[in-house]
Amino acid sequence: MGKGVLNPARPSFLRVGGVLHCGAHSLDDLAERHGTPLYVYDADRALERFRTLREAFAPAAGAPSPALTDTPLHAPRRLLVAYSVKANPNLALLRLFARAGAGADIVSGGELYCALHAGFPPGRIVFAGVGKTTGEMRDGLRSGIRAFHVESAQELEALARVAAELGREAPVAIRVNPDVQSPTHEFTRTGHAAAKFGVPPDEAFELYRRVAEHGNLRAAGVDVHIGSQLREGGPFLRALDVMLEVAGRVRRELGIALTYADLGGGFGIQDAEAGELDVHALGRDVTARLQGRGMELIIEPGRFLVGDAGALVTRVLYLKRSGPKTFVVTDAGMTELIRPSHYGGVHEVSPVNENGQGDAEVVDVVGPVCEQGDFLARDRLLPVPSPGALLCVHQAGAYGFTMASNYNSRPRPAEVLVHGGRATLVRRRERYSDLVRGQFP
Ligand code: LLP
Repeated sequence: MGKGVLNPARPSFLRVGGVLHCGAHSLDDLAERHGTPLYVYDADRALERFRTLREAFAPAAGAPSPALTDTPLHAPRRLLVAYSVKANPNLALLRLFARAGAGADIVSGGELYCALHAGFPPGRIVFAGVGKTTGEMRDGLRSGIRAFHVESAQELEALARVAAELGREAPVAIRVNPDVQSPTHEFTRTGHAAAKFGVPPDEAFELYRRVAEHGNLRAAGVDVHIGSQLREGGPFLRALDVMLEVAGRVRRELGIALTYADLGGGFGIQDAEAGELDVHALGRDVTARLQGRGMELIIEPGRFLVGDAGALVTRVLYLKRSGPKTFVVTDAGMTELIRPSHYGGVHEVSPVNENGQGDAEVVDVVGPVCEQGDFLARDRLLPVPSPGALLCVHQAGAYGFTMASNYNSRPRPAEVLVHGGRATLVRRRERYSDLVRGQFP
């Protein structure tokens, strides 16, 4: 696997006097005030990452070549950074990105609801997913979203029926499966032929033909998404080439100029194992390939925007030695952050306060959940913490809280957003009463 580049920008959660801080707030204080486990997000960092991507993928400077300026097809290209809501749908973060001018990449009616609630203009929302229900299609059509990213022939027919029923025209981009291998965990690899996502290029072309024939469908763009936590640019470029070939064929044979190319998300970040994707290099290559085509570029980053802007703060309950192992038992586990056990995610773990630490030892940091697969880090060299000490699990802003569960009847944690010097509770900790809400025994 490519090792990526070292994260060049200011990381969140710096130490001041040996204690980790988010902005001006020490994680000690935040944990004291709001309890643990606790998610803490750095809004300034998230916005900085948004600007980084905007710069990296900005349309190439200068006007398009004069010979190409006579048709709208060759109009200067634009960029839409559509935040992938699934990475972290906290409303405060959604609002932050909506205000910054981002769009939203959604995959469910629930995400549509949240995105609209947070103020994303419908024209900046794109809707992906292999299993959209007709109800979700109806909601998307009624709210006037930018496009549906269609993933199968049957889905396209269902969308056409719903659009006809409502007397509307559904904007469509076909999600192409480019059959590229992306070096990442098998569960987050989506661009190879055996994945459930997208359709092969030839079938994609046939679906555009169907779109062209149907009075209630309109071809808007073309789409790929090849996986998540990718650190090499190559697979993105191969996918882009396949997608642009489809777009070229649609233009030549059907006379339709698709207005955008959506490269999906998946831009990898630095963790305890490796560095991050070089988004500037990728941006240059992508931009060069789009030059003169007059297509808008859409990207759908999730993790890149919020991953390292978030941390999970957890308190050590006990130390336990068993056979060859030393276990640090914390009050957070797979219920709060499932990535280590589900995807082999390797999040950095560090003491919140590094003053007065004991000797370092190789330990497993494990949660209280009754599963042997419940861990936050394994075989990690850490100063052995005392019970009561706080640990910070880094890079937890993406696919952390959003994948949290109530397994073992554990209330889900609180979330705090630090923005411009203020720390705000943006989701309260669940209570036991939340665990029985909605049940009718
Ligand atoms: N666009 C589409 C269509 C997607 O399915 C995804 C993620 C994204 C964009 C954003 O990908 P990102 O930029 O965040 O990598 N739970 C897994 C990751 C699953 C990603 C699912 N799709 C994890 O924790 O690693």
